[in-house]
Amino acid sequence: MNKSSFNTQLERFDSSIPKDLPDRSLFMARLERYLPDLIEGLTSVYLNLEPMLEKLLQIMIAAHLERSIELKTLDLKRNLSPDWFEQPDMIAYVAYTERFAGNLKGVLSKVDYLKNLGVKYLHLMPFLQPRPAPHDGGYAVADFRKIREDLGTFADLEHLTGVLRQKGISLCCDLVLNHVAQEHEWALKAQQGDAKYQDYFHTFSDRTMPDQYEKNLPEVFPDFKPGNFTWNEASKRWIWTTFNAWQWDLNWANPDVFLEFADVILWLANKGIEIFRLDAIAFIWKRLGTDCQNLPEVHAITQALRAVARIVAPAIIFKAEAIVAPDKLIAYLGQREHAGKVSDTAYHNSLMVQIWSSLASRDTGLMTHALRQFPHKPSNTAWNTYLRCHDDIGWAITDDDARAVGVDGFGHRRFLSDFYSGEFPGTHAVGAVFQENKKTGDRRISGSAASLAGLEQALVNGDKQLEHLSLERLLMAHALVLGYGGVPLLYMGDELAVLNDYTYLENPEMAMDNRWIHRPAMPWDKAENAIANPNSLEGKMYHGLKHLIQTRVSTPHLHAAVETLVLESQNSPVFIYNRAHPLGNFVGIYNFCETAQTYPVWQLRELGIHAPFDRISNTKLEIWDGVVWLAPYARLWITQA
Ligand code: GLC
Repeated sequence: MNKSSFNTQLERFDSSIPKDLPDRSLFMARLERYLPDLIEGLTSVYLNLEPMLEKLLQIMIAAHLERSIELKTLDLKRNLSPDWFEQPDMIAYVAYTERFAGNLKGVLSKVDYLKNLGVKYLHLMPFLQPRPAPHDGGYAVADFRKIREDLGTFADLEHLTGVLRQKGISLCCDLVLNHVAQEHEWALKAQQGDAKYQDYFHTFSDRTMPDQYEKNLPEVFPDFKPGNFTWNEASKRWIWTTFNAWQWDLNWANPDVFLEFADVILWLANKGIEIFRLDAIAFIWKRLGTDCQNLPEVHAITQALRAVARIVAPAIIFKAEAIVAPDKLIAYLGQREHAGKVSDTAYHNSLMVQIWSSLASRDTGLMTHALRQFPHKPSNTAWNTYLRCHDDIGWAITDDDARAVGVDGFGHRRFLSDFYSGEFPGTHAVGAVFQENKKTGDRRISGSAASLAGLEQALVNGDKQLEHLSLERLLMAHALVLGYGGVPLLYMGDELAVLNDYTYLENPEMAMDNRWIHRPAMPWDKAENAIANPNSLEGKMYHGLKHLIQTRVSTPHLHAAVETLVLESQNSPVFIYNRAHPLGNFVGIYNFCETAQTYPVWQLRELGIHAPFDRISNTKLEIWDGVVWLAPYARLWITQA
């Protein structure tokens, strides 16, 4: 669509928007700014745009009318500081509501704890109404407009978002785009034979098409449910179910599905949600002969949804949950025509995987190579850096990257699974294999950061040296997550070094999903002890992490707009990168092993750092014969003194 057709469309909209719409000129200004993004996105996916656009306009007007003054003020503030989420003080905390605080009301009493730690963004795991258990930790949503009964009501949620906003904390909500529960109203109507709603899903009368698709589809949960299709007796049809049998994939080729989600996003945004985690976004478009992930339409649809949000609720941002190969990932932050127009942040799965890989091998060569291959992201977007989350770790290391550093990809992935499941001789890790795929040899891993880093074994064996090293390992890894640039996500309990929790085995609804091993209840007694006793085990972790957070806040070089450039290391256990900020270079140096290492300072001099200062220890570097000695698991954030 060219400029003049945009203008025609804009004029058409102008004439159908009520003249007395409050803040009409503001609404029109945003429409004018983002209509091209919206139309470009929609045109590459949907035919017959006119009726769709008209319905969309009505949805946007209704949401604009509903939006409170307070949220509209936030919209303006965010328009004035569009890089708000890229600032070094942006720290996210990820928690299960019931495990963190019982329910939404309970979260209110924990806000000070979060503030104290330095949190500015809280991701509460799925809290919308799911199907009855099992519901994949809430990722099988039965009603987008209801809060999970045991957690509270929308009134509680609105109250909570208001309180959090006052304290400068943004609330993030999961929005599962790929599927709904088979108990969702749309799925129920489809099962009753309602053609309108059958078209919300991918359904088939026999196995012909499913068998064709299966030829190229991987299995996400091979243990829970082999294959990607499930027979539904009620409708006598095969239903596309990528994840569990009761999670029905939505048909995004249907414009009505797009309109439903546009409406839901704006509705939730008006309840005070500021960040939407677009769950399983990679899977929303299907095409025969492909693996039905990361298809171009995914990005066109995201661009259109993003434009809708920017017109009505510019305060909000999108976070893409695309746990995909490195070369596919960058598209979620926008490539080519979509640059800067899709999600604002995306999980840096590769960084997470490479950290665990290097911790096991004590060699950063593969990590250095893989991260040096990463394309640059648009400067108005940020990576979500993280060490652990609620999901398993899949060993997303490509054969090509492994080969480039002389490693066998399959063998290395196998080594990592063995190392972290605890099977590898001499490993310090205690974890569990998740979803072993006998066909591909793929073995993912569950486990808490602390148990995977050796703390569980240390405590079981009373091994003080391993206890110390495990804590150092964790603090080094957290320093990298906090110092890489992006929006760091802290996973609940990691600030206290919580271990694996085996109580999930006693709950029949959870026992078959060992991801619950790393989703324990928040040990508030430990939290209190950590705060009061900095020399206790949890105190060392908590205060160590808090110190890193505070150092980060006062380090402008960590603004996410600046690209991280990984440098070749002369010494394999040492990982190094530079961030060229207008204030000067920032060099991150990390020792991935339990023995002291050297680092040559000529590299810093070449970067114009002649008097290197480590911001973490708040000291000038001591240089001996042109090298700096790095303690076991040292982490240094260097700038010019
Ligand atoms: C995402 C979630 C994961 C869930 C899956 C299916 O990957 O993080 O926990 O199982 O989506 O909804």
